[in-house]
Amino acid sequence: MDSRDPTCQGGWDEQISQKFLDYGRYFVPERESQLQIIVDLVPCPDRPGTIFELCCGEGLLAQALLERFPACTVCGFDGSTTMLRRAQERLARFGERFQPKPFDLASRSWRAVDRPVHAVVTSLAVHHLERPQKQVLFRDVHRMLAPGGVFVVADLVEPAHPLGREVAAKAWDEAVRERALELDGTTDGFDFFQRERWNSYRYFDPEDIDKPSRLLDQLKWLEQAGFVDVDIYWMRAGHVIFGGWKPGSVTAWRDHQAGDSAESFDHRAEAARGRPGAFTGMPCSREFGIGSGAWPWPWRFTSPQTIGHFFAGRLNWPWRRSGMGTSPSAP
Ligand SMILES: C[S@@+](CC[C@H](N)C(=O)[O-])C[C@H]1O[C@@H](n2cnc3c(N)ncnc32)[C@H](O)[C@@H]1O
Repeated sequence: MDSRDPTCQGGWDEQISQKFLDYGRYFVPERESQLQIIVDLVPCPDRPGTIFELCCGEGLLAQALLERFPACTVCGFDGSTTMLRRAQERLARFGERFQPKPFDLASRSWRAVDRPVHAVVTSLAVHHLERPQKQVLFRDVHRMLAPGGVFVVADLVEPAHPLGREVAAKAWDEAVRERALELDGTTDGFDFFQRERWNSYRYFDPEDIDKPSRLLDQLKWLEQAGFVDVDIYWMRAGHVIFGGWKPGSVTAWRDHQAGDSAESFDHRAEAARGRPGAFTGMPCSREFGIGSGAWPWPWRFTSPQTIGHFFAGRLNWPWRRSGMGTSPSAP
């Protein structure tokens, strides 16, 4: 196959894969911090669970996930054979815990799962989809997730104002230049970035394979898809990490561990939310560590943001489980 044949819907090809493999370490601002933040947002249990990574590339994020969650399996989806091969080589030591999956991000066939997944993460890929495709993806991911599961997106976003675009363009140049100097002591990596006109904030091209959407739109689409606690976790040079949680209960997670189909799982979780006395959604499940048994005095395990929610009365704490106090809150 000609390496310029588009491998994926949207225009990504094997030649671009190779360039990204060779130069991604310069092009992605604060790459290691980004990986760390994404992994920190995954509420994965210490028992077997499944994480989907969409467009896993060479498998850097998958590696971080596999190392952090030794009981979990990561399905690494990508449309590029070059990328998947590289990921397989990198992750061979994890055996069956890493499952490479060829796919097209825009297609919906891979989204029909027989078991709900615990987390869906993706880095630098969603911007290859058109606006309506992103909205469909967000809804489908919500459906695929187990209650309490997270969707984390790291991606380029479209600045809302022309001056915001200028700021992003300048900041991205600076980040790449800094990174090239830090890694090699030369600006070679940055020179390549410029020669390739990779900075899509500076070199706008309507035919571009990059179709970033505004951050605010994407946050709204997440909420419209049913995600809660939608938030932004990091941002630099037009690159953002954002995401949200699927409301859900610890009980449902436990049932899931025992084995359950995605549909019956969703159905029972919905039913539980509307039932007095049921555990009514748990947007804070990530702070507890599923299956950790860390019920008493949750603030020992919690984040400042959650404490803020607590005082604002937005969390469903355990004492609501048996109908003590308030009625179930709809997601
Ligand atoms: C910029 S790279 C990011 C790779 C990796 N996630 C990372 O952050 O290092 C984009 C990845 O998305 C994949 N990709 C782009 N468009 C795709 C599509 N429509 N379907 C499947 N994969 C796609 C590419 O093969 C590539 O691995």
